[in-house]
Amino acid sequence: MPVLEVESLEYKYPTGVSALGGVSLAIEPGERVALLGPNGAGKSTLILHLNGILLCQQGEVRVDGDRVEKRNLAEVRRKVGLVFPNPDDQLFMATVAEDVAFGPRNMGLDEDEVDRRVGRALEAVGLPGFEERMPYHLSTGEKKRASIATVLVMEPDVMVLDEPAAGLDPRGRKGLIELLKGLPCALLVATHDLAMAREVCSRVLILDGGKLAADGPVDDVLADTELLLEHGLA
Ligand SMILES: Nc1ncnc2c1ncn2[C@@H]1O[C@H](COP(=O)(O)OP(=O)(O)OP(=O)(O)O)[C@@H](O)[C@H]1O
Ligand SMILES: [Mg+2]
Repeated sequence: MPVLEVESLEYKYPTGVSALGGVSLAIEPGERVALLGPNGAGKSTLILHLNGILLCQQGEVRVDGDRVEKRNLAEVRRKVGLVFPNPDDQLFMATVAEDVAFGPRNMGLDEDEVDRRVGRALEAVGLPGFEERMPYHLSTGEKKRASIATVLVMEPDVMVLDEPAAGLDPRGRKGLIELLKGLPCALLVATHDLAMAREVCSRVLILDGGKLAADGPVDDVLADTELLLEHGLA
């Protein structure tokens, strides 16, 4: 069974802007999928539906076969981890350790397990020893990594990352690519970084004007120059 399914999803913002015009897709456990598309394509709007931050107006989203609704949001958010484009939307505690521990504590894990997980997550994102630092005072790239740690620590089945490489230096970007390649969970990565998509993902979706324009193996989609040009990706 797919771990994540989107069926005929439509979404119109209160301003009247129609951001999604009937999107359907499925992601299998452990699959790595890049979500490409020009600015304004609807990528972030789609992503906000995947763990119920936006609730479906038309169509549905299913996690492990279960329709995402208000009643199961806690479970959905444990299974689907979302990394926001702006880390300031993800970090709000006084220290990095408290931010990373926030989700596991909420899940009711005991403090020893929380500490173990926090240590592992910070190690994985290359921030060991940052436990007592103030998130507010971290550099952009450090904030980005800390925000990824807050999701990684939940050990989700699917990690959804919206523009994860933005603001990272070349070494940080390489580290992120290695980190993503090493994760056991399924991935959906919205990015404008085609090289990263190629390195991390086996499948590519192109979203344009709120509709899927392509869904195929990474080598096929990224070799189709005409398709990339048509959707502002080359
Ligand atoms: N909060 C909002 N209120 C009204 N319209 C919005 C809102 N957020 C996004 N939109 C509109 O919805 C459409 C899709 O935007 P979205 O942010 O999902 O695109 P995106 O593919 O993530 O773009 P980018 O690559 O620039 O991040 C755009 O036309 C955008 O202007
Ligand atoms: Mg976006």
